[in-house]
Amino acid sequence: MLTAKELRQKYIDFFVSQGHKQIQSASLVPAEDPTVLFTTAGMHPLVPYLMGEKHPEGVRLVNYQKCVRTGDIDEVGDASHLTFFEMLGNWSMGDYFKKEAITWSFQFLTEVLEIPLEKLAFTCFEGDDDCPRDDEAANVWKSLGVPEERIFFLPKKDNWWGPAGTTGPCGPDTEMFFIFDPKKFDEVAQGTKDGFNAADDQNLMVEVWNDVFMQYNKQEDGSFVALEQKNVDTGMGLERILCVLNGFDNVYETELFKPTLDKIKELATVHDDITSLRIVSDHARTMTFMAGDHVRPSNMGQGYVMRRIMRRAIRHGMKIGIQGHFLGDLSEIIIDQYSDIYPELSQKKEEILKAVRTEEEQFTKTLAQGMREFEKVTEKLREAFSDTIDGQTAFHLYDTYGFPIEMTSDLATENSLKVDLEGFQKAFEQHQELSRTASAGQFAGGLSDHSDESKRLHTATHLLHTALKKVLGDHVEQRGSNINAERLRFDFTHEEKMTPEQKEEVEKMVNDAILAEIDIHFKEMSFDDAKAAGAIGLFEDKYGDKVKVYFMGDYSTEVCGGPHVSNTRELGGFKIKKEQSSSAGVRRIKATVAANQE
Ligand code: SER
Repeated sequence: MLTAKELRQKYIDFFVSQGHKQIQSASLVPAEDPTVLFTTAGMHPLVPYLMGEKHPEGVRLVNYQKCVRTGDIDEVGDASHLTFFEMLGNWSMGDYFKKEAITWSFQFLTEVLEIPLEKLAFTCFEGDDDCPRDDEAANVWKSLGVPEERIFFLPKKDNWWGPAGTTGPCGPDTEMFFIFDPKKFDEVAQGTKDGFNAADDQNLMVEVWNDVFMQYNKQEDGSFVALEQKNVDTGMGLERILCVLNGFDNVYETELFKPTLDKIKELATVHDDITSLRIVSDHARTMTFMAGDHVRPSNMGQGYVMRRIMRRAIRHGMKIGIQGHFLGDLSEIIIDQYSDIYPELSQKKEEILKAVRTEEEQFTKTLAQGMREFEKVTEKLREAFSDTIDGQTAFHLYDTYGFPIEMTSDLATENSLKVDLEGFQKAFEQHQELSRTASAGQFAGGLSDHSDESKRLHTATHLLHTALKKVLGDHVEQRGSNINAERLRFDFTHEEKMTPEQKEEVEKMVNDAILAEIDIHFKEMSFDDAKAAGAIGLFEDKYGDKVKVYFMGDYSTEVCGGPHVSNTRELGGFKIKKEQSSSAGVRRIKATVAANQE
């Protein structure tokens, strides 16, 4: 039995032995890229380096990366689809290309993992107007001993990867598949006109690895412009490879899911609804990792996705007869299980559990209200001799009472009604658009212009940030910052409303810094030196280039692009005007400085 831990290590060791440097898994929430809500692949945090920036660790990198993909959520519960997964990846930033990448993939699969060649199939890009057929990749596979009939050429929809969002690096890829039953596979693949597509069946095979040859940068207008630096980006699904190496036919049999599935089975009264059991297990893991990266259930951006996942888990928990709250207990199991690899989980255990339990308690309440609303809806429909719940109403149930659309559909069926799914989809997409835009805003820099007013407020924001950490605790992290000529607005992670005493203390600390008339200066330094200097700020997951650190005496040391005033006295005084909730687990402060009021 190969464990997940051994597998991660084998992967890292192999690529380190080929000159790669191991880098850390980045946060699930992309630090600065507003084009996607979550990190969906190992390449995602590396986009600036794939575009040509220099990575401090060099041109060959390897890691395992936490990823979230919700595009396949409807498939979750089958043998291989998950909303959270780990990706093993190796990269070349303008260094090696197809020959080395394919050779190492081949060696890792057949020599390190000892998968017999007859259990593998490969696909390459068949070519189109944007990019020629990838004979180069196919020839490398052949040179390594892969028989021609196990190499298939497929169009862009299959053998092209990226960009991760709407724009960015992308290119043709070559994919590797594990075949469960080679004889059957060959019969189907060779025996039909459809070849590979006919064999593309969960019972016959599963995709395990993808080598992407990034040669292009997709533009806003949809065109593909050649990248100056050609890269390799590979990604192997840890759960899938672990599954097949251990002889299982679905990922839920692996050690990664066993502890939560055991618990779910213990709590459930219905045991034959395997899909629901698996959904609860998958979603519990996703929500835990999201919470570990500071996502909190809300109605926008990442929080919206987390909420949807949690409510889906709760509904499926209901379906299998689980009584009472259970997601917190599952989270605890996952935290214990994964903390040696992802220590942020145990470090944030209390916060994670609180976020999960709060949402579960809240939804359990709206669930009852929503059921009453649903009854009203059905009554009205009957009176009107209609049998269809319109899209807006379905969306209202979803949005206001948190009913996932499948739940509304199920309830409708039970009441001999239908749901206008298209109408719902439209309303949903409109909402999603808004969420995306809103979440992009969260990551925008806080400074609207470089006027003296905004410089003063920006400086006050630094002092406030540090004061909040001192008064409320180290869990305080910036979630958003916005400045206009009158006031600053600062969003930060903290669960409870601040007490009047806490607000006073924070104000006093900032005012003390103003009275102390501190000269402000900055230094450019490396990321590591900034961390060593105790600098705070939104610089997680950034590598490479030097960062600017602003020093304000003993009062604040923070990574920031500036600009700031040159002495704290220029602020004149500081006052908190409002402290309120921004979203679950995030508080918002609006504050002014005296000089801006003159
Ligand atoms: N980015 C590619 C993928 O997600 C390779 O990691 O498949």
